Amino acid sequence: MLTREQLLASVQHLIDPVFGLPLTDLKFVRDMMVKENQVSATLLLSAEDEAYKDELQRVITEAFTGEGVASVHLRFRPISDYERSEAARLVQETGAAQQAAPAEQAPNLLDAASGVQFIAIASGKGGVGKSTVTVNLAVALARLGKRVGLVDADIYGFSVPDMMGIEERPQMANNRIVPVERFGVKVISMGFFVEENTPVIWRGPMLGKMLRNFFNEVAWGELDYLLLDLPPGTGDVALDVHQMIPQSKEIIVTTPHATAAFVAARAGAMALHTEHEILGIVENMSYYACSHCGEKDYVFGRGGGAKLAEELHSSLLAQIPLGVPDNHVAEPDYSPSVYKADSETGQIYTDLAKQIISRLDNKGPA
Ligand SMILES: Nc1ncnc2c1ncn2[C@@H]1O[C@H](COP(=O)(O)OP(=O)(O)O)[C@@H](O)[C@H]1O
Ligand SMILES: [Mg+2]
Repeated sequence: MLTREQLLASVQHLIDPVFGLPLTDLKFVRDMMVKENQVSATLLLSAEDEAYKDELQRVITEAFTGEGVASVHLRFRPISDYERSEAARLVQETGAAQQAAPAEQAPNLLDAASGVQFIAIASGKGGVGKSTVTVNLAVALARLGKRVGLVDADIYGFSVPDMMGIEERPQMANNRIVPVERFGVKVISMGFFVEENTPVIWRGPMLGKMLRNFFNEVAWGELDYLLLDLPPGTGDVALDVHQMIPQSKEIIVTTPHATAAFVAARAGAMALHTEHEILGIVENMSYYACSHCGEKDYVFGRGGGAKLAEELHSSLLAQIPLGVPDNHVAEPDYSPSVYKADSETGQIYTDLAKQIISRLDNKGPA
């Protein structure tokens, strides 16, 4: 026989986008009636968003059907002001309880004592090559013998697994998630855990929750560096992530175009606002080098990276030319976006990695 408890348990993983807590903890699943194999319930909506509502309808129906329910009838209504304040109170209480909780048995990467250097890769907008730079810097650090983790936290497009040619999904071992290893880099992507069509408004709060889990519940092993592919821009999500990893340092990616550098400056301002040290600027798509004569053609203009570095009192660490990696699908370790170590661009990334190492290893963890 189906029970209410059983059905509630089947949806307890669903997180409310506004309050960041499980819908069941927030008591946002109400008036559940179970009659034989028919179920009806009322769902409280914290945000007025059709896509969210549709998504809830879909995932809850799916969860209940999975428990053997034949007919699911869901009603939706916005939460009242009173319910909103009750939910906010619960969020506060939960936050306080989490802070008071004893330390996890697993070493917490976020602990300064872990010795892990966090490097967040930020950009003012999408499409400038933030993920490409993150992936290739991670691989270059690993090639130099460093132990590297990479968190793909760009909720607007989880691209790291595809870029690195990762097809497998992480396994569980002793109740912990084991990152997928590729080119010596341990990779965890939000994309491993989020369905592709989950609306973005739902992803933000999930990201916060998951990031905390990534640091605590992932079996990273010993790491020297943990790179984060941040969401582009300076929205709430980016700000949350910045604040969650107070000891993180940052690299800002821009293209040479003046407008790109201008929006990247905002990402830089955000880094400074959250007291993240800016390690430097990487200018991507800097020029096109003619394959015959080697002459450089500055197709997207010039100087954006240098100007940004000056503005942020930082330095321009690398200028990466246009050009895709010379990789072939038939190769056993095919990856669409990782440049080979001996290619020109691969060498630029090695040089970038060396600069990062010399900057950070001298200082030790923050
Ligand atoms: N230096 C480069 N030369 C040619 N294509 C590039 C270069 N850097 C990035 N790209 C391509 O540009 C697109 C955007 O890059 P991506 O790393 O996904 O940007 P972001 O993460 O900033 O959105 C991708 O298709 C990527 O392969
Ligand atoms: Mg990206």
